[in-house]
Amino acid sequence: MLRTPPFPSRFFTENRRELSASFDADAVILLQSADSMVRNSDMEHPWRQDSSFFYLTGIDEPGCSLLILPNKAGTTEEILFIPSVDPEKEKWNGKMLTRDDAKLASGIEKVQYSETLMMTLFRSQKWRDVLYVELNDFFPDQPLTRQHRILGDISRRLPGLQIRKLDPHTARLRHRKKPEEVANIRTSLHIINDALSAVMRKLKPGMMEYQVEAEIVYHYLNNGCNRVGFEAIVAGGENAAILHYVTNHARLNDGDMVLIDTGGEYGMYSGDITRVYPVNGRFTPRQRQCYQAVLDVNQAFIEALSPGDSWKQLYEKAGEIIGEIYHRAGFIDDPRNHLAVSYHRIGHYLGLDVHDVGRLDWPMAPGTIITVEPGLYLPDEKIGVRIEDNILFTEQGIEILSRDIPKEIEEIESMMAAAS
Ligand code: GLY
Ligand code: MN
Ligand code: MN
Repeated sequence: MLRTPPFPSRFFTENRRELSASFDADAVILLQSADSMVRNSDMEHPWRQDSSFFYLTGIDEPGCSLLILPNKAGTTEEILFIPSVDPEKEKWNGKMLTRDDAKLASGIEKVQYSETLMMTLFRSQKWRDVLYVELNDFFPDQPLTRQHRILGDISRRLPGLQIRKLDPHTARLRHRKKPEEVANIRTSLHIINDALSAVMRKLKPGMMEYQVEAEIVYHYLNNGCNRVGFEAIVAGGENAAILHYVTNHARLNDGDMVLIDTGGEYGMYSGDITRVYPVNGRFTPRQRQCYQAVLDVNQAFIEALSPGDSWKQLYEKAGEIIGEIYHRAGFIDDPRNHLAVSYHRIGHYLGLDVHDVGRLDWPMAPGTIITVEPGLYLPDEKIGVRIEDNILFTEQGIEILSRDIPKEIEEIESMMAAAS
């Protein structure tokens, strides 16, 4: 169960209402809880609910399904399926969700046990032609899920039923965060700020990268986060040039910088922040030059943001800003060569997924949250700098949600000096 109180059921009821409104009465919508994944022997990987399933139900349990039968002209039917209570399982895993709990959490009136799913689904499609489902399409070689197995069964038994993607519809809704969602990201960022402030106080040459990670995770768990939003990257010296370095087992050396890319997940929502600190508390002149150039890009890009821009336009704008600033600083000999020292995109959508859903040609709308994270990677000089902030688009413009997390050179050096 989530440690943080879930949203009131009206949040989920409203999300379902908005989703159903875009479907005709010939559609059946079927979503599943995330599957549990075996780690080894009889141990499982930590489990986290599927983001869209949470968004539409608020239910934080595996083994559940949601069936929606939209009807614009009449009454949309919603049925939630939960595993039946098993006293033997409860001895091992604690109290299971009851039908009343599920109704209260989700606002769904009709709650049935999972063994009735197939019968209900087969009956409900009788006068409906199209089944909408979500599947993770990032990794074709991932294990098949319960959703895949159900689809396999359905396509053999009901060959006329068309199967379509639900993702574009849920992504449209999830693209604009509601105030409750923004509030959880604000809380996550507040906790991340606490964690990074503690790191700045404790950082010194000789510390191990994993000790910094331990400090960060301690703050997350101690302040109500359920888990990390993603594995923390704590990368000293040249490790900072490895974009997804999560090994975190090297010693932090005097004279090097350390790059920390981290987020703690509060109530299903995580900030995504990168900061870079000098291990001994003072940047060298070269580190200072590199750091300031990345900060200049970060600030110039944020200044250039306005509602209505799409990622497609913004990636082009980023290329121009990075090219100009890095060329002026002498990191590249031609502004068009910025990818040689800055290999990744400048940001992504942020929400229930840290790399959140949404198309790159959609305009930024009030409620959209993105990251801004320019980087500069010079591994031969043991330099990797990325400065990552989280930005909310509003009716008026933008709000830098992570504005309280220090990133100016003087702020960082004086906070580190005050601690030593
Ligand atoms: N932490 C992964 C990213 O910044 O996208
Ligand atoms: Mn990040
Ligand atoms: Mn990011």
